[in-house]
Amino acid sequence: MPRPMFADLQPAAPDAILGLADAFRRDPRSGKVNLAVGVYQDEAGQTPILTTVAEVERRLAEKGASKSYLPIGGDRFFTGPARGLVFGEDHEALRAQRVETLQTPGGTGALRVAADLVHGLVPGATAWLSTPTWPNHAQIFQAAGLSVRWYPYLREDGQGVDEDGMFKTLADSAPGDIVVVHACCHNPTGADISSGAWKKLAWLAADRGVLPVLDFAYQGFGDGLDADAAGVRAMARDAEFTFFVASSMSKNFAVYAERVGALSLVCRSPDAAAALASHARAAARACYSNPPAHGAEIVATILRDPELRSNWMAEVANMRNRINENRSRLVETLVANGAAGGPGAPIQAAGLLLQRGMFSLLGLSAGQVARLRDEFGVYVVSGGRINVAGLTKANLEVSCKAIAAVLT
Ligand code: LMR
Repeated sequence: MPRPMFADLQPAAPDAILGLADAFRRDPRSGKVNLAVGVYQDEAGQTPILTTVAEVERRLAEKGASKSYLPIGGDRFFTGPARGLVFGEDHEALRAQRVETLQTPGGTGALRVAADLVHGLVPGATAWLSTPTWPNHAQIFQAAGLSVRWYPYLREDGQGVDEDGMFKTLADSAPGDIVVVHACCHNPTGADISSGAWKKLAWLAADRGVLPVLDFAYQGFGDGLDADAAGVRAMARDAEFTFFVASSMSKNFAVYAERVGALSLVCRSPDAAAALASHARAAARACYSNPPAHGAEIVATILRDPELRSNWMAEVANMRNRINENRSRLVETLVANGAAGGPGAPIQAAGLLLQRGMFSLLGLSAGQVARLRDEFGVYVVSGGRINVAGLTKANLEVSCKAIAAVLT
């Protein structure tokens, strides 16, 4: 008799990020601190429902919306304002109708549709990812059948992006390859590319025929909703190449569990965009059929109502300001505990202060990250990525003391 299928299968490795959330939940220690998963938390350590989101949920409950299927590419009630948020309502590419947007299950869904779409049209394509990047990037592109190669990202002194190294490596890319770039608030380094590098990326796309896929998960968490979109919007002014934007509303609307995202396909003409979108819909149909409705309806209702939209923008600003204040406090407290400082210090304070968005990367070894968790109950992602929003007055000192301890 053959052994039953999978009878001897070993368990898969836990996910590099969400696996830590499971481990944290199981940890019985009362003083444990969760700085791992990139979810906004307030001073009480809660991930609050925004007041604008709660208000719309009340309205939707009264309205008694239908739960019938959405179209494969989602609801135009959502895709129009979602596109406007990314590109700016009056962007020339939108006026020229050369951007098509699909509603997707989160930014991850958008990335997977992009990956499936490219694999279907350019089966031998490689996806180029930054070292380091969000661990799920490699999994998504490999699961779609693409191979993955890496370009260097963070400068050795931790102060910004090694743009020379990045573009020197990307010179090996081939037509049809994907180059994944974080549009803002790079995950995990917090270091973003300069306007000069955006121009080089546009040149690479136009001249080499590579396909930039911009992962835009943290719009509004760096310098502002419009400021964070500057790179994306500059790329879209140029009609000489095609690129994609995978945007997420999980963070800026704090609707993580609702899976709200969008894939925008920026092309040189309306016809090209429409044709590409039809292939993207075919990829989505084979992957998840059609997207979930509830979260997208909340987001679209907020974006379409001037008063709700302005209240929501204030809520995003509050989250951003708290993150920025937390980063300053983190650096001050690390310095006070001897963990960070100027040249010669274990962590360079100047590099940390340059970082934008939800994450700070401390540059810790695997052993130091394990000690933080095992000895001190402080959970951070590999490399020492900290969710800055997870810091509170109650856990800041204890976390920084633990970091100082594992560094010595
Ligand atoms: C993160 O990087 O922590 C978030 O994007 C959550 C995730 O799905 O990994």
